[in-house]
Amino acid sequence: MMLSSVETRMSFLRSEIERHNRLYYLHDAPEITDAEYDVLFRELLELEERHPDLAIPDSPTRRVGAPPLEKFFQVPHGIPMLSLENAMTDGEIVEFDERVKRFLGIPLEGEIEYICEPKMDGLAVELVYRDGILTRGSTRGDGFVGEDVTLNLKTIKTVPLRLSTPEPPRLVEVRGEVFLPLKAFQRLNAEREEEGEPPFANPRNAAAGSLRQLDSRITARRPLSIFCYGPGRVEGFEFRDQQGFLAAVSGWGLPVNPQIRKVSGVDGVLGYYREMAEKRDTLDYEIDGVVVKIDSFALQRELGEKSRSPRWAIAFKFPPRQAVTVVEEIVPQVGRTGVITPVANLRPVEVSGVMVSRATLHNWDELEKKDIRVGDTVLVERAGDVIPAVVRVLTDKRTGVEKAVPIPASCPECGSETVRFPGEVAVRCLGLSCPAQIRESIIHFASRNAMDIEGMGVRYVEQLLRLGLVKDVADLYSLTRDDFMRFERMGDKLAENLLNAIEQSKRRELSRFIFALGIRHVGEHTAKLLAEAFGSIRDLEKAGEEELLTIREIGPEVARSVTTFFGNQRNLEVISRLLAAGVCPLAEEKRLGGRFTGKTFVFTGALRRFTRDEAARLIEREGGHAAGSVSRKTDYVVAGTEAGSKLDKARALGVTIIDEDEFAGMLEGGST
Ligand code: IVH
Repeated sequence: MMLSSVETRMSFLRSEIERHNRLYYLHDAPEITDAEYDVLFRELLELEERHPDLAIPDSPTRRVGAPPLEKFFQVPHGIPMLSLENAMTDGEIVEFDERVKRFLGIPLEGEIEYICEPKMDGLAVELVYRDGILTRGSTRGDGFVGEDVTLNLKTIKTVPLRLSTPEPPRLVEVRGEVFLPLKAFQRLNAEREEEGEPPFANPRNAAAGSLRQLDSRITARRPLSIFCYGPGRVEGFEFRDQQGFLAAVSGWGLPVNPQIRKVSGVDGVLGYYREMAEKRDTLDYEIDGVVVKIDSFALQRELGEKSRSPRWAIAFKFPPRQAVTVVEEIVPQVGRTGVITPVANLRPVEVSGVMVSRATLHNWDELEKKDIRVGDTVLVERAGDVIPAVVRVLTDKRTGVEKAVPIPASCPECGSETVRFPGEVAVRCLGLSCPAQIRESIIHFASRNAMDIEGMGVRYVEQLLRLGLVKDVADLYSLTRDDFMRFERMGDKLAENLLNAIEQSKRRELSRFIFALGIRHVGEHTAKLLAEAFGSIRDLEKAGEEELLTIREIGPEVARSVTTFFGNQRNLEVISRLLAAGVCPLAEEKRLGGRFTGKTFVFTGALRRFTRDEAARLIEREGGHAAGSVSRKTDYVVAGTEAGSKLDKARALGVTIIDEDEFAGMLEGGST
């Protein structure tokens, strides 16, 4: 039997959409933008509406999201987590409003009360609070069954482990959107590029990648946030409307977006939309539209749901921030750790109000995969990044003169041969005296979050190097006024300021100093952990891998990198010269205030609620320590079922013995 062209198209759309779902949800690596996905999705929806006989029950339009990953435990949602229908134009909002009124039998001139919320571009989760205690957290998954990411959600600092109310509901399921603030996203991607790991395509993928980590230590290092926006099952409490819900959960300590507002009628909605479109660039998180919800829960219930979305809400999407331009040049750029990345210089173009003339291409794999050539016409997108990205090449615009740029075989700055380590996407220059690396490492050392030498930016560092006045960071501290006076356009006052700034930088916190050294894998956060744990640079220098591994959140990769760094004679010399020049890093106070600070726990027997690793991580997160054997120093022994000799020893030594539930209670806020 011949398939009709409509049937062929529908089958093509179904498999394309499924493929993009997998790329997006399972691999966190979308090939097309949301706007492009929406076009495919809408076309399939329309065809199914026009040809209901050709619609199949397992079409991607019938499901809400993607299948959950197998590696997490699956959790069914008490009430399915639905999706939203999209509106692109004012007209579609007017239609939505009319549809609602007709359904409810409200006269068309009446005005409905709506709650307008920013549409967060992150990933949806559900938090389950039983008697006020966070007992479970899960992703949306396919809308019916999600993934159990409880431990990871507990690492989000703004997620309360216990609701702050004396009389919490018996059960309340709160839904919200987890996201990564833009600044954190940019920092994370910069780090990943330096480490030769593929960067995340956008903040949402970064948030998803961070939350769906089997190792919650990794999640803990990503400053994820959450805004709560809706209820699931509720027992022992009644919310009357969306406004009441938001006020209640906010009162219980759950984060709610402060931009949310109640408005009347279509005009109110359109006004809010315009306002948010203007604010969009000033927010520290990505939003891709606004969500419009009918305030009253009674009306929501009356309207009910269609198969995958409610009738009482709609997503009013912003136009995509994309534009078309031409790649004029692709240049290799050498970073502080020698990673060479391609950067595209573009014919300047305006993307929703911002002039764009450069785009990161992240790495050579991506350049190759997207097949971007000099002279190509490309689609660029500003997605929560200062530097925009090339989405794809418009290949039908090719004329044949476009030139592919090969991976550089040698460093563009020092000529050393480049290398690529197995398993890494990064191309590196290993030249020890590569001027680009030296320049970038000095700029890093002086930068705001490191030693904060005010005024010591690219321009001056370049001149210092050109004049041969510095060869490494320690040389900065022997510079004199005369040295600076050799600069172009330098005056007494400016020279004085620079000298002062250098002098002041001698007394920075130890964590800044450690970060400033530019040890691989040691970002600001890790530097803080190391500073807290060791208290002085000399003690850190002496630390072995084993000792480093006892520190909460420090894994083998970081430990090895730290010992390698301090195992290098040249690095030790530079540090000695820094200290001799008067640099005196200040030890910071140990982080106190964790629930288990200074306490040692030992586990024995089988646990039901946690794996040993999970329990150990939770203890460390609260500043405590999980040990393998019982001694006089042990504060608590947590006894599971069939506990053995450790329990006997604990009894003999008089150590406090608790069961798993008591332990869980302590974690959730009981006393120690
Ligand atoms: S309400 C049935 N509110 O958008 C109600 N969703 O396509 C559905 N989203 O899966 C959700 N911000 O991930 C709602 N303020 C907000 C939202 C929001 C972002 C996401 C959410 C949901 C998707 C719907």
